[in-house]
Amino acid sequence: MKTKPPGCFLAALILFVLLSNLTPVVSAQTGSAEKGVSPHLAAEFIHSVLLADRTIYSEYIVERLSNTIGLNADENWREKETLMLPAQFLSHSAKLSNKQNTGMSYRLMSLWPINKNNGPVSEFEKEGLKKILNANKTSYSKIINTDGKLFYEVVYPDLAVTNSCVQCHNNHPESPKKDFKVGDVMGGIHIKLALGNSGDKLQGSGHKLAHKVVANYVHSILESDRTIYSKFIVNRLQNKNVLFASENWWEDNALLLPAQFLLNASGVIKNFSLGLDFRLISLWPVNPHNGPANEFERAGLESVLATPEKPYFGKIKIGDKEYFQAVYSDRAVTPTCVSCHNEHPNSQKHDFKMNDVMGGIVVTLPMH
Ligand code: HEC
Ligand code: HEC
Repeated sequence: MKTKPPGCFLAALILFVLLSNLTPVVSAQTGSAEKGVSPHLAAEFIHSVLLADRTIYSEYIVERLSNTIGLNADENWREKETLMLPAQFLSHSAKLSNKQNTGMSYRLMSLWPINKNNGPVSEFEKEGLKKILNANKTSYSKIINTDGKLFYEVVYPDLAVTNSCVQCHNNHPESPKKDFKVGDVMGGIHIKLALGNSGDKLQGSGHKLAHKVVANYVHSILESDRTIYSKFIVNRLQNKNVLFASENWWEDNALLLPAQFLLNASGVIKNFSLGLDFRLISLWPVNPHNGPANEFERAGLESVLATPEKPYFGKIKIGDKEYFQAVYSDRAVTPTCVSCHNEHPNSQKHDFKMNDVMGGIVVTLPMH
């Protein structure tokens, strides 16, 4: 991605991708009624995406740019020429995602919040935050009945992974706790999934969520993080002439392109070995690797181009394993999406406009 491969290598790679890639099964748009995803696994998917994006933002953006060019993260980022804090990145994205009515919501909270709004609000949140203080507890979950509606609720610990977490919180005038240490649980991520009405008949082994619904959760986080990153980091800092996004972000001490943010997060996700995958594709790719890999992806791109609000669903087979796939439209949400692609020498289209569908986000889930 950083350097262009020579032509023959490229041709071989494309051939490899074509041959080795997914053989689509003719079940596009039918969904997957017979099987489903357990709420626990759905939460694992969601948590892994949140963690991957939190890692990319904290390490590749905030820490790297602070170390290399002295660009800091600051809670008053709006008034300054700085980056928003990782916690603010998550809460802004949560606000966008929670508005999309996918049946899933999430938030970052703590028993010792700097921002009072980040304290626990329900009994479950209070209980969950206390339970995860126990070092060998990787999460705490419960099914909760709220006025006849069932929710799967889970809290995952949020750890002080670096000294900067500890330093900033311990020294912050509004922090109620001043003795955090590296490795401590500083708070938790609460994820809440709607399971339906308590009177609904359960099928087989209990509550299962349709693959379609779970793909929508994953997409909603990816799209929200992508929008926050593009609007409040890339577009804003470019307009202020502070910093630019560059394909060679590492060498240039620059911001990652929005596509690279997503791709790197997708790399982190693979470490969780959950079988979850996501990619960014287009009918007019700047990078030929990002073209549709098969007929399913091509049909998906054409479909979201015609009806951007409607994702394209289907099942595919890789070897003898079945996967659920969904293609969502990817739109030009900021003027920098448009200008960079229209001006890029390798771009195959030079007349994108604001809000155009530029490509698609493909989410792949294993069919368990
Ligand atoms: C430069 C200072 C700074 C750094 C570094 C920092 N935080 Fe925070 N953190 C804050 C501020 C300020 C808030 C409140 C943001 C808001 O208004 O919602 C916050 C919010 C939080 C919250 C939500 C509860 C609360 O305190 O409001 C958690 C949990 C949290 N941070 C954990 C972390 C972790 C883990 C790290 C390291 C990966 C980290 N923070 C790094 C300043 C910082
Ligand atoms: C500063 C330049 C720049 C900006 C800003 C930018 N892109 Fe890209 N985009 C690229 C490059 C370069 C690639 C190819 C990355 C790679 O090597 O995989 C790419 C890849 C993509 C792809 C995958 C298909 C392809 O063209 O390879 C899509 C879809 C896409 N961008 C959409 C967007 C959207 C939507 C935005 C705004 C949210 C955006 N881009 C912002 C330069 C940019």
